Amino acid sequence: MVSVAILGFGVVGSGVAEVLSTNSEKIAHNAGQEIGVKYILDVRDFPDSPYKDRLVKDFSIIENDPEVQIVVETIGGVGPAYEFTKRALLAGKSVVTSNKELVATHGYELLQIARERNLNYLFEASVGGGTPIIRPISQCLAANEIDELYGILNGTTNYILTQMIQNGMSFDDALKDAQEKGFAEASPAADIEGIDACRKICILASLAFGRHIYPDSVPTEGITGVTLSDVGLAASGGYKIKLLGRAVKSTGGKVACYVGPHLIGENNLLSNVEGVFNGIVVHGNAIGSVMFYGAGAGKLPTASAVVADIIDASKHFRARKQIDWLESDSNTIFDPANLENRWYIRCKADLSSAEELFGNIVALGGEASEIAFITEKLSRSALEARLKDLAPLSVFRVLD
Ligand code: HSE
Repeated sequence: MVSVAILGFGVVGSGVAEVLSTNSEKIAHNAGQEIGVKYILDVRDFPDSPYKDRLVKDFSIIENDPEVQIVVETIGGVGPAYEFTKRALLAGKSVVTSNKELVATHGYELLQIARERNLNYLFEASVGGGTPIIRPISQCLAANEIDELYGILNGTTNYILTQMIQNGMSFDDALKDAQEKGFAEASPAADIEGIDACRKICILASLAFGRHIYPDSVPTEGITGVTLSDVGLAASGGYKIKLLGRAVKSTGGKVACYVGPHLIGENNLLSNVEGVFNGIVVHGNAIGSVMFYGAGAGKLPTASAVVADIIDASKHFRARKQIDWLESDSNTIFDPANLENRWYIRCKADLSSAEELFGNIVALGGEASEIAFITEKLSRSALEARLKDLAPLSVFRVLD
């Protein structure tokens, strides 16, 4: 019997307890032994919960109990979650988490503590919710040099954009709907400003390219600037607007990483990833392009990935999984402003001035003095030099 402690009994933590209970036989079969919840740590009381006898408020009870081999951190954030994760690892327990903020900001340090103690710090649920992506990158694609990965990494914003595209729904109504369905982060800014997607692309890029990529080095733009007008103009050219996190490795080995809205062409693998679903494309030198698709948020999909990590941690106690990366250094990143691609521009101008500035363009239409068009391939730096006189209303990258 393996005893686990769950830290934080919110949406994901309660989902983990539910999956461990509902699928207990299958989980025991896969783990080779039963897995039981010994403690649940939360500042709140849950007098009606079947787990009320296992609730504790003092982390040292868990820390000092040698029977607890695995700690599940579903508190979120970098406050108590960071402290308890460190203390659990230092006390000789493996830690499993869905906490992308903590992995993205302190992953290297926590992985190092785990490595030094021959323990595991696992975080399959931190990216893609229930969609497998951490192990596919670290194990199934381990034979590849990965040169690019990009994806729809945030279910809430994809849900909002899908509602805008398919139903003409306003941004605010779609956000409210997503929050009611339990997809959104505690602060809507983390979703709509792209912060959540930024943390996730940092985790994927760190894993794929082997050095910690920190969120503060990743230019990030969310979807608050995407209007129904942009959605309609993009559709008129056969494009959908999606929020992507993207990481590209240069020939010199440095990585450019950023988050922003993109116009996605209808032949792109991500074009039909709708609603709360996530889709992640990885390009490797042996495999070519491969896409991972599935539920990117929600209680049970996320718990599904957390419990898979619990099973893996129970089978690899004091035997490490190679899910790891090194510290960042001065050769880790390069500025994504140097990456060339086509651009969508909506502005108050006429087509002839746009053609004068950009040469070959694809016009998408517009109304009155407002136009939208797509440029040839340009770096962001080259683009901005030409945009100075155009007073653009929207500027997004295009990925065919
Ligand atoms: N708020 C996140 C999302 C939850 O919408 O994708 C899953 O990480």
